[in-house]
Amino acid sequence: MITVSDLNVHYGDLQVLWDVSLEIDDEDSVVAIVGPNGAGKTTLLKTLSGVIDPTSGEIELFGEPVSSMAPSDRVSNGFVHVSEKRNLFGDLSVYENLRMGSYTQRDDFERTCEEVIEMFPVLEERREQKASTLSGGEQQMLAIGRGLMAKPEVLALDEPSGALAPQLVERVFEKIDEISNDVTVVLIEQHVDQALDLANRAYLLENGRIAAEGTGQELLDSDHVRQSYLSG
Ligand SMILES: Nc1ncnc2c1ncn2[C@@H]1O[C@H](COP(=O)(O)OP(=O)(O)OP(=O)(O)O)[C@@H](O)[C@H]1O
Ligand SMILES: [Mg+2]
Repeated sequence: MITVSDLNVHYGDLQVLWDVSLEIDDEDSVVAIVGPNGAGKTTLLKTLSGVIDPTSGEIELFGEPVSSMAPSDRVSNGFVHVSEKRNLFGDLSVYENLRMGSYTQRDDFERTCEEVIEMFPVLEERREQKASTLSGGEQQMLAIGRGLMAKPEVLALDEPSGALAPQLVERVFEKIDEISNDVTVVLIEQHVDQALDLANRAYLLENGRIAAEGTGQELLDSDHVRQSYLSG
């Protein structure tokens, strides 16, 4: 569904991605991209969604080169990116935020909304509440729910467990597992062990380069990952 070949990305003179290549297939349920702060994980997602233009390299989304696809076309074609900043509309209600998420799929709004609320019942309870007044965990559920409203084939989540209490981190991982039954999830995470545990395919990004790739289990078993990212 997504092929990235030899991607190089700069911010001004600073190169942050170096010859990054990766593959996301129809059969993938969760593809994890893990790595330390500043490795370039967010930059990679922003390049896939079209917020940043690469210096060189190719990206194919659903069999087409993205050079011809505006960011909004990438969404309507099925690639949805939930930013680490969540980017909710703070003054709008939960329900209105969900509606905004469905802008490429308006006909299906009611049915998709029911499905999303079934997955995140707390959103029904908070339906009329302003997004800015939700707790951190609720905002994360809303951000993911809003992403699902666009009926993605690939849902890319940038640190969905970021800044959440350990108990909520667990809950978010359970939801991702559930979502991945229907949608391919690209999961950017610093909770390396939990992300790799869930992932059928995984990439380790270090200093802007792919330092390791394999199944989630292969990365969990690798000496480098164990020594650098896992305790014990
Ligand atoms: N807009 C920008 N202008 C200049 N440099 C940037 C910009 N955004 C990111 N960078 C730099 O690019 C590098 C990669 O940043 P990026 O946010 O992609 O890393 P990350 O892996 O997502 O890190 P984190 O785990 O902390 O979210 C960092 O060195 C960062 O300082
Ligand atoms: Mg980041």
